[in-house]
Amino acid sequence: MALIEEVARENLAEARAMVAALAPVALDSATLVEALERLTERFGRETGLATRLDTAALGSPDQGLSRSQEIVLLRGAQEALTNVRRHAAASAVVLRVSRVGDVVAVHVEDDGVGFDPAGAPGIGLAGLRDRAEEAGGAVDVASEPGRGTRVTVRVPVR
Ligand SMILES: Nc1ncnc2c1ncn2[C@@H]1O[C@H](COP(=O)(O)OP(=O)(O)OP(=O)(O)O)[C@@H](O)[C@H]1O
Ligand SMILES: [Mg+2]
Repeated sequence: MALIEEVARENLAEARAMVAALAPVALDSATLVEALERLTERFGRETGLATRLDTAALGSPDQGLSRSQEIVLLRGAQEALTNVRRHAAASAVVLRVSRVGDVVAVHVEDDGVGFDPAGAPGIGLAGLRDRAEEAGGAVDVASEPGRGTRVTVRVPVR
């Protein structure tokens, strides 16, 4: 039992280190918007879906967000896109970055099958919600069967 516990602990530590090491790779040499551009471009290429990034509602780009907040937004977009790929049967996806007052948000909107957000708890969205709240922010899921889905991750600029 002790050995099992030790191996499990080591594996968990290793997984955490990998996750911690991964995010900055996307963000280290790039702004949040640049990282989102890459993500958007790659997702469109890999899925064949019409995919675009809209930054029109972002006033002063990238200012005032901590690295960990940027990671929350980027990871949020990744999780939402993974869900689009796996669940939505969509034909188009729009990512939007916006800033309203002191809140920066990333929205991922698809035109797929939709779902009832109250009735489908999963690890992905729940984990995203936890991470957003740890960063002082929140997650919003707007969806209805047959009417597409919009996931919004927002964090406050400090
Ligand atoms: N864009 C979407 N379009 C349609 N259904 C969705 C969408 N996003 C989420 N869902 C529904 O909500 C459920 C919960 O999503 P969530 O990401 O929490 O878990 P998951 O994707 O099933 O598993 P994982 O824990 O691997 O992320 C999904 O199983 C799916 O039924
Ligand atoms: Mg998921």
